Amino acid sequence: MSGCRWHQICLYPCQRRRLFISVPFLLCFVFAVAIFISSQTRFPVFLIRGVHSILLVSKNHDDLPKVHAIKTPVNETHLKRFSNSTPHFPHCLIIGVCKAGTRAILEFLNMHPDVVRPMFETHFFDNVANYKKGYRWYLQQMPKSLPSQITVEKTAMYYAVPEVPQRVHEMNSSIKLLFVVRDPVSRAVSDHLHMFTVYKTRKLKYKTFEEMAINPANGKLNTKFYAIQRSLYYRYLQKWLKYFPLSQIHIVDGEKLRLRPWEVMSPIADFLGIRKFYDKSYFYLNPDRGFYCINFNGIHCLPKSKGREHPAVDPKVLKKLKSFFRKENENFYNLTGRTFPW
Ligand code: A3P
Repeated sequence: MSGCRWHQICLYPCQRRRLFISVPFLLCFVFAVAIFISSQTRFPVFLIRGVHSILLVSKNHDDLPKVHAIKTPVNETHLKRFSNSTPHFPHCLIIGVCKAGTRAILEFLNMHPDVVRPMFETHFFDNVANYKKGYRWYLQQMPKSLPSQITVEKTAMYYAVPEVPQRVHEMNSSIKLLFVVRDPVSRAVSDHLHMFTVYKTRKLKYKTFEEMAINPANGKLNTKFYAIQRSLYYRYLQKWLKYFPLSQIHIVDGEKLRLRPWEVMSPIADFLGIRKFYDKSYFYLNPDRGFYCINFNGIHCLPKSKGREHPAVDPKVLKKLKSFFRKENENFYNLTGRTFPW
């Protein structure tokens, strides 16, 4: 040490020995990390998803905007092919009904190894400005996928905007469609509650469900109320049937989806022509909220905005709604050949 010049590394012999042993270990570690990063062209996505999933578990799942189930590449070959994948147009669209469980379907589909989905709603077919950007823009919104995987997209407003069925048909007349329904009365309450919550967070006033559902002048049902309108499944489905045969539309029972998701997801997988996958063990019932979460690569629950506690609605208003929907529901059953207990 004593004869050490300023440009020399000055170490005792024992320190040199330790350095001699630890440097190769350090180099091996750095090398392994570098190989891992270079094999992941999707590294930023991988990182974000990883961090996000940790947050979802550690923050009691609730305050986060979305659930992201991580797809674990099956093996090394899959990993390499995955990094070579490109975006594809959707093979299937979830066309509604909003507040019937569309997000749950999308997230449950996303855990299937053969399915990918965009993280956010694209608003392509319902928004004129986006639609004008063209198919190339739409394709850019899609996640990368392998030729063996299918892409599924959902935008809540595809259900309500009248031009959407024709636009979808023009793009792909053989696309598969998922149409989720639930009891139209509770769906209407959920629809209103959603807007009510949005207004409340912005510290704005919003009428109660009863105030909007009943015409104060005559005490009759206000059937123009958007929450009631959107529960008229028969009318909305007819608009799609102008362009697509019923065989291309799979009707999903939203109540069953809530109570036994694995029983609903298996027929959806068959309809989409993907491998059998769904098992009861892939779902975990969150005891605090009473809704199923994904139990695959960790536990992932939908955010708090999905599965809100509904307010108590005046029983007289509920009765009026039930009788108003009766005929509409029958029409829907006749049209689809399916019956529901509503
Ligand atoms: P509520 O909030 O009224 O309970 P959408 O995603 O189409 O907006 O639908 C939201 C509805 O999905 C929720 O309505 C909830 O009932 C239903 N849902 C079904 N399965 C769910 C799940 N596993 N977790 C959360 N919500 C679920």
